[in-house]
Amino acid sequence: MSKSLHRGPFPGTRMRRMRADDFSRRLMRENTLSVDDLIYPMFVREGQDQREPVASMPGVERLSLDLLAEEAKQLVELGIPAIALFPVVGKDKKSLDAAEAYNPNALAQKAIAAVKDAAPELGVITDVALDPYTTHGQDGIIDDDGYVLNDQTVETLCKQALAQADAGADVVAPSDMMDGRIGAVRQTLESAGHVNVRILSYAAKYASSYYGPFRDAVGSAGNLGGGNKYSYQMDPANSDEALHECALDLAEGADMIMIKPGMPYLDIIRRVKDELAAPTYAYQVSGEYAMHCAAFDNGWLSREAVILESLLAFKRAGADGILTYFAKDAAKLLS
Ligand code: PBG
Repeated sequence: MSKSLHRGPFPGTRMRRMRADDFSRRLMRENTLSVDDLIYPMFVREGQDQREPVASMPGVERLSLDLLAEEAKQLVELGIPAIALFPVVGKDKKSLDAAEAYNPNALAQKAIAAVKDAAPELGVITDVALDPYTTHGQDGIIDDDGYVLNDQTVETLCKQALAQADAGADVVAPSDMMDGRIGAVRQTLESAGHVNVRILSYAAKYASSYYGPFRDAVGSAGNLGGGNKYSYQMDPANSDEALHECALDLAEGADMIMIKPGMPYLDIIRRVKDELAAPTYAYQVSGEYAMHCAAFDNGWLSREAVILESLLAFKRAGADGILTYFAKDAAKLLS
């Protein structure tokens, strides 16, 4: 830097000046986190008055339909715009063809109706994927070698998405990573007259090791055994491929796209938002939740401050909203 910029022995630029008072910190703040950004993932189980904790996710419970409906009302009071529903499906309902996925009387479909009945203004986002319904825990229908068959799976996903829309889902969210499923689901919904059911595509979903606690929560971990999802979920080494996936899903008719997991993939959120400028969401997944809780419970990190900082990071990266198991905590902290 040339000497002439310095008018004295002080620093040429005092970046700290704007940080000196709360008013100027507020005025220059680039990003904010609000309750409008939050989507709360919830696990639903069979039964009445049942509330079952998930061991690896402290504070997260599998709720029976009645308690789910009660909780939905509280979420509206907290100002949370939407939930993402995940069913815990009994062993007797799992099969090779995952037919329970599109049963109009299945738990998942009953849960949608129960929530819309109790809290009509709460957006209901449903998971379109077969893993809760398959005996092997894969997201699709497999051949004799265990390979997940793309086109057969897409046919079943369309039936599943339709059953969810018929039950009242506002948003269907394919999380399965089959090729062509967004276009097929969009066409199915259009043909059935569900023109305003939105599609949130898990467009860039990585074959991540951060999903472990979720698989415990829905009981698919044991079924999956030592199996993996490498033949359909994305390689964590890739970034261009995420753009390709997201662009395809938008072209096929997705209204929103999601990047998953969250914190380890903030660079992907930023690239996708910059290049595609579409509504973009991040999923702070179960493993991220579990590791934060472990640190909080040990007194190693300060719970409230870190929850908010971890969520603000998604806004800074360009996300329009965040699926997070901390949604209730964050909503209370922000109010
Ligand atoms: C599967 C699905 C997964 C999650 C949501 N839907 C995990 C997987 O691919 O096995 C993970 C969510 C989380 O970890 O919080 N369709």
